[in-house]
Amino acid sequence: MAVANKKIVFLTGAGMSAESGISTFRDAGGLWEQYPVMQVASHTGWLQDPELVTRFYNERRKQLFDTKPCDGHKLVAGLEQNYDVVVITQNVDDLHERAGSTNVIHLHGELRKVCSSRDVENPACWQVLDRNNWEVEPGTKAADGSLLRPYIVFFEEAVPMIVPAAQQVGEADVLVIIGTSLNVYPAAGLVNYVREGVPVYLIDPKEVSVPIDLNITHIQAGATEGMERLINIIGI
Ligand code: APR
Repeated sequence: MAVANKKIVFLTGAGMSAESGISTFRDAGGLWEQYPVMQVASHTGWLQDPELVTRFYNERRKQLFDTKPCDGHKLVAGLEQNYDVVVITQNVDDLHERAGSTNVIHLHGELRKVCSSRDVENPACWQVLDRNNWEVEPGTKAADGSLLRPYIVFFEEAVPMIVPAAQQVGEADVLVIIGTSLNVYPAAGLVNYVREGVPVYLIDPKEVSVPIDLNITHIQAGATEGMERLINIIGI
């Protein structure tokens, strides 16, 4: 019987896509410096001004089609040859998938998808947008007659994928955190599920305070250089 490959679980954030040209949220000049986060990324903001929110995500979606995966995304995907790789991402871009990752859990939704504003999980209302059809006209209705909205987990909303994500972290033989300030819960709380003694690597050019006392190896570098150094440590 084939020996099961070691499971390596990634928890990625905006810094993973920074080298693809997508700005992070909380770095200097980040997205939340330019936009009032509670107006464009919260449930209350959606209810108050769905047109503003629709236009905000149209802009982010348009930018997405002008970007491509960085080498860091590709190195993560390449580990699937010898590891059972699970990517848990807070990012709403599809760069991990476009780099070749086949097992991606999106905690905060997906920029290319739009859905019902009555029931975001109703698949009959899901639409996947592409570069020829990326813009939602404010006021457009979903199949159930409600306003079509971004398939994004807004602040104040539940994060249904946190359950399968926690399960995966609990089964990890290696946990790698890349490009997240670990500011936002429940995503940041996933580090609590790693088993005792499992090696944890954190790839980030800055210091990141991790909520619990883990034996973390901090690879102080960007995503691509950090992945190159990680592969030298753990082997491809
Ligand atoms: N490579 C790796 N990490 C980087 C790079 C890079 N090139 N550039 C910046 N970083 C790091 C920053 O040092 C920071 O620790 O990426 C992290 C980005 O942190 P945030 O901007 O807070 O992004 P993130 O942690 O993903 O935010 C979590 O907040 O607004 C919500 O829903 C949004 O999913 C997002 C969540």
